[in-house]
Amino acid sequence: MMQVQWYPGHMTKAKRMMQEDIKLIDLVIELLDARIPLSSRNPDIDELAKGKSRLVLLNKSDLADPSANKEWLKYFEDKGIIALLVDSRNRGGFAPINGSIEKACKEKIERDRKRGIIGRPVRAMVAGIPNVGKSTFINSLTRRAGAKTGNKPGVTKGKQWIKLDKNVELLDTPGILWPKFDDEQTGLNLAFVGSINDEILDPTELAVKLIERLKKICPGTLFARYEVDEEENTAVILEKIAFKRGCLRKGNEPDFEKAARIILDEFRSGKLGKITLEIV
Ligand code: G4P
Repeated sequence: MMQVQWYPGHMTKAKRMMQEDIKLIDLVIELLDARIPLSSRNPDIDELAKGKSRLVLLNKSDLADPSANKEWLKYFEDKGIIALLVDSRNRGGFAPINGSIEKACKEKIERDRKRGIIGRPVRAMVAGIPNVGKSTFINSLTRRAGAKTGNKPGVTKGKQWIKLDKNVELLDTPGILWPKFDDEQTGLNLAFVGSINDEILDPTELAVKLIERLKKICPGTLFARYEVDEEENTAVILEKIAFKRGCLRKGNEPDFEKAARIILDEFRSGKLGKITLEIV
């Protein structure tokens, strides 16, 4: 059984900050990891963002399987949630973002209009679990956007709003959601993509679980990268990868941990291919 811990202290602080910031905004831009759209979702967001407009971005879609990406888009569409595939590192999929923000906030804009409020910009914030790409996204999105609007006296002391266009302002600091995992599968998914701190997990154990998963969901992947026989026992596969990659300790003993870290790194950086761990 995996030993995973998430410290309640962090969780309480993150939640308090989200609760404060959310009061200031109309729209939550929820970043998910396209490789694990459900596991990377903190279900508490539904309660936290009650009454707010929502936009889901499946980030790191460049690392996920293209056909699974399409299915996940459809999954959210079917639920009436506006979702887009993005690659924040390369601004991939960014073109429709502003339009989708306005679409997601249509009701709010309409409500404002009926009350005679016209042209009040939509205010948005980005939220997601650690490592999902929030900072990368904000930086990429705002690099070419207008200047910061500066502090708004009174209401938003210390908060910076970035003007995305004449109708949309974005809070420059993201809301941090905590990863939530009641079952081992979700915990493993989060660990595979690196959203749970590696220091609290045993990399060898994690790599063994990843090998087992890859054998099942995308057979041929390990063979293609490491030329190992996937029919073999997982420990043997790991040992062979250690030898092939020169991960050796004194006396030519295989260094399992070093090999494990290579596999985890290569999976996370997409070197093993575009792999989605969670299917619709
Ligand atoms: P956070 O604020 O949500 O905690 O995440 P952050 O932006 O720090 O991103 C975490 C890692 O994910 C970074 O990699 C970042 O480059 C990468 N990343 C973010 N968005 C994407 C994406 O759409 N596609 C891909 N392939 N990667 C993405 P890192 O290795 O920690 O840093 P670095 O090597 O990029 O500096």
